[in-house]
Amino acid sequence: MTGTPAYCGGEPVRTEVLGYGSQSIGEDEKQAVVEALEGDYITRGPTVKTFEERVADLVGVDHAIATTSGTTALHLAGRAAGFDVGDEVITTPLTFVSTAHAATYCGAEPVLADIDPYRRTLDPEAVRKQMTSETEGVVPMHYAGQPADIEGHLEVADEHDLTVIWDACHAFGGNWNGEPIGAQRDMAVFSFHPVKNVTTGEGGMIVTDNDDFAAQLRRLRSFDMDYSPDGHEEEPWYQVTEGVGYNYNVTDIQAALGLAQIDRLGEFKTRRDEIIAEYDGAFVDMEGFRTPPDPTNADPMYHLYAVEIGEAFGCNRTEFVNAMHAENIGVQVHYVPLHYHPYFQEEFGYERGMFPETEQVYEGLVSLPLHAEMDDGDVTDVVTAIKRLHAYHAE
Ligand SMILES: Cc1ncc(COP(=O)(O)O)c(C=O)c1O
Repeated sequence: MTGTPAYCGGEPVRTEVLGYGSQSIGEDEKQAVVEALEGDYITRGPTVKTFEERVADLVGVDHAIATTSGTTALHLAGRAAGFDVGDEVITTPLTFVSTAHAATYCGAEPVLADIDPYRRTLDPEAVRKQMTSETEGVVPMHYAGQPADIEGHLEVADEHDLTVIWDACHAFGGNWNGEPIGAQRDMAVFSFHPVKNVTTGEGGMIVTDNDDFAAQLRRLRSFDMDYSPDGHEEEPWYQVTEGVGYNYNVTDIQAALGLAQIDRLGEFKTRRDEIIAEYDGAFVDMEGFRTPPDPTNADPMYHLYAVEIGEAFGCNRTEFVNAMHAENIGVQVHYVPLHYHPYFQEEFGYERGMFPETEQVYEGLVSLPLHAEMDDGDVTDVVTAIKRLHAYHAE
């Protein structure tokens, strides 16, 4: 291999494409799915209940409610929180669009506030500045698995009587302050999409200690149906809807897969941590290359390894992304800030330039491959490609 990067005419570091994220499915998961298919129930059955109990136990909360995705989990959490037309809900611009849908799906307005550029998560001081008499809730997101400033957000929530929904879609399996991520009030939401820390294909979960929220979440997930209304004990068929609910029920097939994945959670975390340690070591002294922040009082399970490409690296972020793709290495940018999206601009009047910290971070942001299926050779390929690119531009 020469010192010329593939996008400048050299040989690619790899011939086979390496994805930035991937599921890891073993024989036990396949067997669990087959068994679920052979069971009496393939949806809304006992395996879903077992999966929910397992997650509740793992997170150390009273209730876990499985849903069809992280997005629908956020929707249900917003409904349970009572977000409605005329309400404002504060969230981060540096996130996937679904975070804001905890508000928008309920008719409430998502109000963006800038990030703390160190953690890349919603800044409680910025939240304070966006507070109005209409503010009902806040949805911080644990970016890449790095916990947001949990204490700071809970303090603001206490001052203004807000409901907090933690978007923990990136953070399943991590710990903060000695307790599992997701255990913090009022509700937390996980995603089990294939690139996340564990997967059920599509899938999500809401966790909470609040009995009222849990009861509402269960009802809303399933048509807002009262399956045994008072006064109809002699009529077993009598089931009535009391509001606009949804069919966000998950299958026993997904739940079986989820249970088998949770059996491997420790293995997944160990492998992710090993890759992160390799990357950290390889890039520690690289100019213009900011590695992820050290966790504050936490042992996160990182979903992403997001770096920031600065001027001193030698090429800009766009060139970096295209150069890595030419090497057959998948990288991705998480995320185009919400206020850059036409929907948020046209519907809520957001414009570029409004959130300088987010924009500054976004300019350099790139996620490198990180998943449990990566072997040591894959990690070496990523490091080699980046070092070669840096050296080429330094010449
Ligand atoms: C931060 C964040 N929130 C919410 C979601 C939505 O999760 P899902 O894809 O399971 O609907 C995602 C998924 O990409 C996400 O990254």
